[in-house]
Amino acid sequence: MSFRAIEWRSEAGILRLIDQKVLPGETRYQELTRVEEVAEAIRDMTVRGAPAIGVAAAFGILMVSRGREGDDRRRALQSADALLRASRPTAVNLFWALDRLKAVWNRPEATGPEIEAEVLAIEAEDVAVNRAISKHALTLCPQEVTFFHHCNTGSLATVDLGTAPGVIRSAHEAGHKVMAYLDETRPRLQGAKLSSFELMQYGVPHAIVVDGASAHVMRTRKVDMAIVGCDRVAANGDTANKIGTYNLALAAQDNGVPFYVAAPMSTIDFDTPSGDDIEIEERDAGEITRIGDCEIAPPGAPAFNPAFDVTPNRLISGIITEYGIARAPFGESLAALRSEIGKA
Ligand code: MRU
Repeated sequence: MSFRAIEWRSEAGILRLIDQKVLPGETRYQELTRVEEVAEAIRDMTVRGAPAIGVAAAFGILMVSRGREGDDRRRALQSADALLRASRPTAVNLFWALDRLKAVWNRPEATGPEIEAEVLAIEAEDVAVNRAISKHALTLCPQEVTFFHHCNTGSLATVDLGTAPGVIRSAHEAGHKVMAYLDETRPRLQGAKLSSFELMQYGVPHAIVVDGASAHVMRTRKVDMAIVGCDRVAANGDTANKIGTYNLALAAQDNGVPFYVAAPMSTIDFDTPSGDDIEIEERDAGEITRIGDCEIAPPGAPAFNPAFDVTPNRLISGIITEYGIARAPFGESLAALRSEIGKA
C-alpha cells in the first residue's frame, strides 16, 4: 500500500494534506487553497518533515502566483514568501524551496507557467532523490540488517518514499531480512505514531522503544546501523535533526554502531559553517506537559522544549545523499558531492 502526505489537485488549485496531527488514529485530510492555510499547516505540523514542508511551501507559492501577473504577482509573492519563511525555522528545505522559486518569480519577465513548472519540479525531484538515497544506502546493508531510527523521515515527511524509512523499506523490498527499532520520539511521538504506521503498511518487522532505551538496545541486541534523517546539515557535517538524535548518536558511538544520516542535498546548507550557527526551534511547553488531552505534569510546571538538536560531525559515520555517501572530513566530502549537482 502506498499513500501521499501531499497531493496537488491542479485544476481546483487544492493542496491536499494528510493531517499528521491525528494519525494513526484517524486518516483525515485537509484541503487548502490559501497560502495562509499552508503556513499554518506547516506551523502546527499538519505537514511536517523537512522535505515535505519545502514542497508544501512551494505549492503555497503556486496558489498565490496563479491568476496574477506582473507587479501585482511580485508584490503578492513577496508577502507569501515572507509568511512561509516565518512558519518554522530549522529545516533548511523550506528556505531552499522558497529561494529556488524566488529566483524564478522575482524576474520581471517570469511567466505563470515557468513558476508552476519550478514548483512541480521541486515535487518530482523529491521522489527521485529519495530513491537515489536508498540505492546508495543499500550498499551499506548486510543481508540480515537491524536498523535503529529516530523520529519520522518516511513517506509522510517527504513526497513519496522518504529518506531513512525509505532505506528500511527498500531493504525489506529488496529481500533483506530486516528489523527496525523505532524511537518513540518524545514529545510528539513521530516514531511511535508515524514511522510505525508506515512500516506497518509495508509489512516491515519493527519494534517501538522509548527514547531512553536506545543505548540498552544497542548494548544487548544486534543493531547494524542507526539511520536518521535531518533538518539541516551544516557545511562541516554537523547535523540538526529531531531532539534526541544527538543522544542516539552518542549511544551508537559507545556501542560501536555506525551512525548514518540520510540527507537530500537540499538539506545541506553550505552557507552555515557549523552546527552552532543553526537556529533550533523551540516549541510550546505544553507538548511536553500534556500527552493528547491528558496533563502529565503538575499544573503550571515549567518545561523547556527544543524541537531539534545538533549531532556533531565526529559522531557521524556517513551522510547518504542522492549523489553518494560523504564521510569525514565532511567539509571536503560534502563540497565534492556538491560539485556533482547538475552533472548528468
Ligand atoms: O518536527 P518534525 O516532525 O518536522 O521533525 C522532523 C524531523 O526531525 C525529521 O527527522 C527531518 O525533518 C527529516 S525528514 C526526511
